[in-house]
Amino acid sequence: MKYNFDELVDRRGTDAIKWEMLGPHFGNPDAIPMWVADMDFLTAPAIQEALQARARHGIFGYTARPAGYEDVIRRWLYGRHGWQPEGEWLVHANGVVQGIAIAIAAYTDPGDEILVFPPVYHPFFGVTEGQRRRIVESPLVFDGTRYRMDLDNLRTVLAEHHPKLAILCNPHNPVGTVWTEEELRPVAELLLQEGVYVLSDEIHSDLVYPEYHHVPYPSLGPDFAAHSATFYAPSKTFGIAGLRASVAVIADEERRTQYLAVQSAFGAGHMTAFGMAALMAGYGHGAPWLDELIAYISGTRDLVMNTFREEIPRIHAVRPEGTYMIWLDCRELGLDNEALAHFMYQEAGVALNDGSGFGTGGSGFMRMNMAMPRALVTKGLDRIKNAVAARTHA
Ligand SMILES: Cc1ncc(COP(=O)(O)O)c(C=O)c1O
Repeated sequence: MKYNFDELVDRRGTDAIKWEMLGPHFGNPDAIPMWVADMDFLTAPAIQEALQARARHGIFGYTARPAGYEDVIRRWLYGRHGWQPEGEWLVHANGVVQGIAIAIAAYTDPGDEILVFPPVYHPFFGVTEGQRRRIVESPLVFDGTRYRMDLDNLRTVLAEHHPKLAILCNPHNPVGTVWTEEELRPVAELLLQEGVYVLSDEIHSDLVYPEYHHVPYPSLGPDFAAHSATFYAPSKTFGIAGLRASVAVIADEERRTQYLAVQSAFGAGHMTAFGMAALMAGYGHGAPWLDELIAYISGTRDLVMNTFREEIPRIHAVRPEGTYMIWLDCRELGLDNEALAHFMYQEAGVALNDGSGFGTGGSGFMRMNMAMPRALVTKGLDRIKNAVAARTHA
């Protein structure tokens, strides 16, 4: 390997939420931080160099789209996912959640219903209810191994409710499913038939394990492209979430105009100088680094899966197809959510995301982030193993 993902980099002193908020969030500043979707690896050298070069200039004024912006993004999407949007479909967003929030403001009114598929990335609830829109749910179903969307339930929900928007998470955080075309298409057809516009959050699409393939929602066909806004970002891909650079793909001109009008109304149209430099460098030159990262995390995933299966069998890890998260079924421990959180944070000493925060279907689960040097992951697993053993033998 050319890049060293085993290197332990001290992040203290950088105000990293993942590390600095352990005390306030978990009441345990010594917990191993395996929560928020943020990686403990040095980013791609191409990005580091581009940022250093930009910093050396010394003037950091308002920043326009660089020459080649559309080409770099289109080439990236084609190279990774075999599909590319038209250049004029691309709209900047300072973060995917911000983009989704703007789309909600642009396409719905207070009181309107918005469909989600829980358990799911929790800010989908916040941006919806925070804008006084109402959540409608079509929960995923879990067969003990993998999560799927439930078409029958979706039909019933669509017969009873009239959501204006659906927010899809593709690949799905926290359960790690990479939706196949066979799974996506019938859902997309139902939504199209009912006139539901789709926001497809594809922020994790570059982090898909080698045996799986990401299907961009708009690649399903022109009708689906016209009825969706899809969100991409280099932030998870390269571990640069602090730089706030994301992309919305909005094919329909009228929808794009509505989106841009709300973005402008909130004064949210400017991109950051550093975010733009990083996006261009990552999408332009970061592919070899990403390929090695995926190989490394793939190895870590196998290690985590084996450890739970062989050494901590009371916790069932759901094998992710994408994302660097592992969704842990802890229900066999027989603890309620509060006790489970206390067990993980205080007794074991690992900071994981409480599954109940992801909505329906999340109780009794925890989400573990494994995007860190393997030595730290192993330490976290040892802590969980010892704490489970101590409880079992107590
Ligand atoms: C599905 C999903 N969407 C969006 C985000 C956050 O994106 P941003 O920081 O660009 O708002 C995350 C971060 O974990 C995520 O998992």
